[in-house]
Amino acid sequence: MIPQSFIDDLLTRLDIVDVVGKRIQLKRAGANHTACCPFHDERSPSFTVSPSKQFYHCFGCGAHGTAIRFVMEYESLGFVEAIESLAGTLGLEVPNERGGTPEPARTRAETLRPLLDAAASFYRLQLKNSPRAIDYLKRRGLTGPVARDFGLGYAPDGWDALSGVFPDYRSNDALVECGLVIAGDTGKRHDRFRDRIMFPISDSAGRLIGFGGRILDRGEPKYLNSPETPLFNKGRELFGLWPARTAMKKDNRAIVVEGYMDVVALAQHGIANAVATLGTATTPAHVQKLLRSVDEVVFCFDGDAAGQRAAWRALENSLGVLRDDVRLKFLFLPQGEDPDSFVRSVGAEGFRAALTRSLSLADFLIQELQAQAQGDSVESRAQLVHRAEPLLRQIEAPALALLLRKRVAEVAGLSTGEVNQLISAAPVRRDTRQADAPTNQRQPAGLLEALLLARLLRAPQFAGAVNLSTLPPASASDPTGTALRFVLDTLTQWPTLSADTLAERLRETPHFDACRKAVRLIRDLPDDIDFGAEIADLARRASLTPAPSSGDLAAMSEAERAAWLAGLRQRKGVAPDNTPT
Ligand code: UTP
Ligand code: MN
Repeated sequence: MIPQSFIDDLLTRLDIVDVVGKRIQLKRAGANHTACCPFHDERSPSFTVSPSKQFYHCFGCGAHGTAIRFVMEYESLGFVEAIESLAGTLGLEVPNERGGTPEPARTRAETLRPLLDAAASFYRLQLKNSPRAIDYLKRRGLTGPVARDFGLGYAPDGWDALSGVFPDYRSNDALVECGLVIAGDTGKRHDRFRDRIMFPISDSAGRLIGFGGRILDRGEPKYLNSPETPLFNKGRELFGLWPARTAMKKDNRAIVVEGYMDVVALAQHGIANAVATLGTATTPAHVQKLLRSVDEVVFCFDGDAAGQRAAWRALENSLGVLRDDVRLKFLFLPQGEDPDSFVRSVGAEGFRAALTRSLSLADFLIQELQAQAQGDSVESRAQLVHRAEPLLRQIEAPALALLLRKRVAEVAGLSTGEVNQLISAAPVRRDTRQADAPTNQRQPAGLLEALLLARLLRAPQFAGAVNLSTLPPASASDPTGTALRFVLDTLTQWPTLSADTLAERLRETPHFDACRKAVRLIRDLPDDIDFGAEIADLARRASLTPAPSSGDLAAMSEAERAAWLAGLRQRKGVAPDNTPT
């Protein structure tokens, strides 16, 4: 028996447009989305999906229901199976309730939301009373109306300012769960956000789900975010989406930037259609969400190496959700500028002019592949096709896929037919490459990925040796694989994170457990092994092995695990008696 609160939570976290849109092609029609009904035969669409009501309805056959119902009907699954499958896509485990304790009528999310709302009002009020915070925002060029539009606030200095807002501060666990309050080991509580400018983060319906807080002066971390909560999922949500909605609709375009301050500064200059990721890389869910309301997305990242990497990650993560009726573009700012500083120096007109010069996804892709392959020799052209293959393979938009293959063929000096042949022949190539893998023992993909993850956690500086686009996508029911990709995403965005800071960040995510399990696997490995080489080698092998459907290491027998690890050690010259069992 699945607790009702879990089902409610699940429905709150899922977006029915995502769920249905993943399975059938939806078309935007005003506030709703339509399609030809998948449950009866029809020529003209009478099937609608309502994002505001989170329901689908067919005016032809009367099919009707929530995301769960849709998956049950569409995939012929039972209730429990459908919930498990949907929960899996969010990385949630379905709790099993024995005996049927009565569930509270309100869902968890509904309990948490009013707490965030109350805190936001408090922070806004505090901003009014803090000349220092007001002065900071003024120095950054912001005016009152813009601060109001974004609901900016100030979390005062002091350990328990929120106890004045919540009389049950010391006892209400929901305050901890929604991320406003931190409970230390001894049970002592304190405010998470202290002496910070507060940026409220809302979902696409304008409901508050979390905060980002910027330190006023210098200090670490510069930005502190709410942890992942039943309301707040960093990989799906975007800062500024709600305030930007009108401008996005009007321009039919969204600009994706990296910083909260960038969004607010652009709005201050009248460019109100910008949104920011929440300190993570751009995910497919982000892009999909934006492409539901606009036809053009421009990624605008800083003009440094980290910005370039973030842009490439955004490209990789967008390929699978591209459609032929949308455009993705990339605007690279001059070295040393971020959107905030850039719009301040060139003004709105200058920024708009730069937007018109942004690079199309196709041009960026080809340019980057050519730069990576370096030169025009037979080998470098082969390398270009090799690099292009896993990327092109992800594109499902038929016209774009075809045109890009054509472009790749052109620059490689091949015919489109030849490129197609290479791409469809690729799995065979994987198999032959497998033969030269350094060990002939069984290499479960889940273990490969866990070992890779473990090493990255110890030596994050070598993340650059892993090309994420060559790893097969992780299945949602694979916590290790999902964690690995999350860590790689994080390190793409923050390439200089130390192992400790990385661990600290992971603590607040659902991936922490998988990371801990992985690290335990290599606890006996000495520190002086060549982590860079190990990581590169494991990454190469992981990309040649199909992704596991479940990365649960427990699925592997102890003997298998020990044998595998022993083989690995032998190659490294580590004494086999260290092998953990
Ligand atoms: P930046 O460090 O580029 O900051 O972080 P910024 O937006 O230019 O900020 P200002 O101009 O110094 O105020 C970009 C984004 O990365 C996340 C935040 O989402 C931030 O907006 N970030 C940054 C963190 O989550 N934690 C940090 O410590 C730093
Ligand atoms: Mn900045």
